[in-house]
Order: sequence, then C-alpha cells, then structure tokens
Amino acid sequence: MAPRPLNVGLIGLGTVGSQVAERMLSWGPQLSRRAGVELCLQKVLVRDVAKRRTIEISPGLLTAGGDEPMRSYIERAIHAGKHVITANKVVMAKHGPELLDAAAGKNVDVYFEAAVGGGIPLISTFRTDLQANRIERVSAVINGTTNYVLGRMASAGLPMADAVREAQEAGYAEADPSDDIGGFDATYKLAILASIAYEIKVRPDEIYREGIEGIEPVDFRYARELGYAIKLIAHTQRHPGRVEARVHPALVSLEHPLARVEGAENAVFVEGDLVGQVLLVGQGAGGRPTASAVVGDLIDLARSIRRGVQSRPSFSFDDRVGVIPIGEVKTRAYYRIRVDDRPGVLAAIGQVFAEEGVSISSFIQKDAWSHDMTVELVVTTHPSLEASLQKARERMARLEPVHAVSAFLRVF
Ligand SMILES: NC(=O)c1ccc[n+]([C@@H]2O[C@H](COP(=O)([O-])OP(=O)(O)OC[C@H]3O[C@@H](n4cnc5c(N)ncnc54)[C@H](OP(=O)(O)O)[C@@H]3O)[C@@H](O)[C@H]2O)c1
Repeated sequence: MAPRPLNVGLIGLGTVGSQVAERMLSWGPQLSRRAGVELCLQKVLVRDVAKRRTIEISPGLLTAGGDEPMRSYIERAIHAGKHVITANKVVMAKHGPELLDAAAGKNVDVYFEAAVGGGIPLISTFRTDLQANRIERVSAVINGTTNYVLGRMASAGLPMADAVREAQEAGYAEADPSDDIGGFDATYKLAILASIAYEIKVRPDEIYREGIEGIEPVDFRYARELGYAIKLIAHTQRHPGRVEARVHPALVSLEHPLARVEGAENAVFVEGDLVGQVLLVGQGAGGRPTASAVVGDLIDLARSIRRGVQSRPSFSFDDRVGVIPIGEVKTRAYYRIRVDDRPGVLAAIGQVFAEEGVSISSFIQKDAWSHDMTVELVVTTHPSLEASLQKARERMARLEPVHAVSAFLRVF
C-alpha cells in the first residue's frame, strides 16, 4: 500500500517561498520519488492573498495571516507536533537552541539548511559528513551584499555609497541595506554555524561585530600593494574551554581562498581535526538557491518520517563553553594614519606600539598632501591582543601630530 501523502504548509510566497512552491508544483513526481512519499502542498500562508504573484498558484491554496513573528509560528507548529523547515536566520540565530530543544521534547525535527549560506550545503555537512571531526575553526565570506559592494569598491574604485546604490540596482542589496552593511546578517549566520559546529549555544549578541562602514577606496589600493584583499569575514575558532567568534572587515591574503570569493558568492572554510580543510562555495542567497536548500530539507524530512526514524542526529548543546571577550582575542591589524609631515612623528607612533606590546610587521609612508603638509602612514602589526591594538589606536589618535587614525582593520 502506498504511504499516505505528506502534507506541507508553506508560510511566505516571496523570493524564497515562491521558488519552493514552484519546485513542488512543477517537479512533484520527481521530488516524491526521491522522498518515497507524495509531497502535497496543502496551504500557503501570506499576508495579502490578493497580491500579484510571480508564479502561477491556485487562489484556493492561499490563506492570509496576521503579522505575528515567525518565531511563534514555529513554536506553535512544534507544539502541535509538526516538523518545521525554515529559512529564517534571525529566528534560528536568536532562538534556535530553544526551538530545537522544544522540538526534541515533541519528537519532531526543525530543519534550517536554508538559514545559512542559501544553497550551499552547510548544516547537513556539519550534521552528517563532518560528524567524525572536532571542528577547529570556520571562516566565511557569508554576506553576498557586502562582498558585492567591497568587490566594486576594489575593482572600480567606487566610494561605498555608489557601490551600495549599484548593488541595489543589480538586486544584490535591499532598499534598507543596514542589516548587511552593518554585519548583522553575517553575525546571525555565524551564530548558527558556530552553534552547530561546536554544539554550543552561541548567541548573535555574544559575537563581536563590525560592519564595512568607514572603509574607503584607498584602503583597497594599500591592501593590494601589501598582498591583500578586503572582505567581510565571519570567523570562529576553538580555544581550550572557549571559542572565538567575530564578524568584521579584514585584509585577507590574496593567497587565501576567501580572497577570491567574488560578487554575491559565499564561501565557508572549515577545518576539522580529521578531515583537514574543506572549502564550500556557492550562491549564498536568492530564491532558487535558497529553495534548493528548503526543498532538500523537505525530502530528507519526508524520508525520515516514512521510515519512522530520525535520519539525522539530534542536537545536544554544551552550556559550559562560552565566547571569549574580543579584547582577549589575538589578531593582526592594519592602521591608516594621517600625520603631520615633520620629524619625530614616526618615533612617537613607534613608541605607542612598543608601550602597548604590539610589534610592527610593516610601516610604510604613503601619499603626501602638500596643501596641509600631512602624509599617510600605513602600519601592519604582528598578532597581538585586540585590547592592545585598540588601546594603541586610541593613544595614537590623541598624539599631537596625528590628524586621524583613518582606518583600523584586522589582518586575517
Ligand atoms: N531571499 C533570500 O535570498 C534568502 C536567503 C536565505 C534565507 N532567507 C530567509 O527566508 C525568509 C523569506 O525571505 P524572502 O526573501 O523570501 O522574503 P520576502 O520576499 O519578503 O517574502 C516574505 C513572504 O512572507 C509573507 N509574510 C510576511 N509576513 C507574514 C505574516 N505575518 N503572515 C503570513 N505571511 C507573511 C509575505 O506575504 P505577502 O507576499 O502577502 O506580502 C511574503 O510572501 C526570510 O526569513 C529570509 O531571511 C532569504
């Protein structure tokens, strides 16, 4: 006897939802064959049933909902004993561990492959293929909007505002791009990745965050001369008893694979103790890649329901492992400093670094402005405590011949 069809309710029919519906409606038999059970799109919840849609969908499938937040939709589904698949990174980053605990209590599953890295298989890679490993570090270019913007600033010398406008016109940035530019989106994704990689609860507000605001076209020129690209990096690393987790722009060696991630692409570099280094690259956003992850989860879930087993291991989070305060993290830095063009300035700056215990890796005098008799200095450091690097920055800014510490970036 054929198994009973698996009924699917879909919330949202926007960029992602419409592609999920489209795949289910146009590719039903293939998906059902892979799942071993018929997948039946039963209802689609939207805000406005009368709205014009990009896909053809029977009006009978649509139903309108209020504006309750997604988290409570997911909670209600779990409490009603229903499995959930979500692409919502904000909900999973902020409440993922509790939702997964609640799901375990109800013997249902929450799948969220699409919440990080769009179509790139990340969660399933950690949950299944890399299970035998202790994950040592994860470094990623995980926000397509900022990567596009930084790429255009680097290649065309555009100021940030122009590059953002171009990204909006090309459909790579939202009308309000502050979540991306400010590094919030990358922080949500890193919170999910770190939680899954180490099986601990990493909250977005525990992750050090800096956006790409403040980077100027000249920084790309200097970085390239020194052998680096500039990327928004999401990085986490295991230390004894604690983990490091940070999101900020950084100079990345041109030799590193993350330096070569172009445009709206995403890349995640994982290091496990057994597997070594693994690089996952692909489209980190967009309706179709994200639908690929959502529908992939659906097939996986349908298979496990049909077999009556959980095909994937459930999560158990270790509460004892916390995130290291940023001041205690060791990193390299790049400073761009505008100073008076007169003797003694270099010595004063060198003294600040020496007193803060920061050792200098390179010290270059760049362009001079003859109109105000200033020059630009570019300094890179060896690995040092972040607290010392910050202190050096503040102290230099107060030196009399220093006009401004115009840029302070980490070197990755
Ligand atoms: N776009 C991407 O590339 C991408 C990638 C990865 C993850 N995600 C995540 O996927 C989710 C959907 O993103 P999207 O880009 O598809 O968004 P979107 O285009 O804005 O679509 C949102 C959909 O949700 C519906 N909706 C909103 N609030 C609702 C409510 N209270 N009750 C019922 N329906 C409601 C809207 O209904 P109406 O159509 O009637 O307005 C719309 O169909 C988000 O959590 C996002 O973070 C997106």
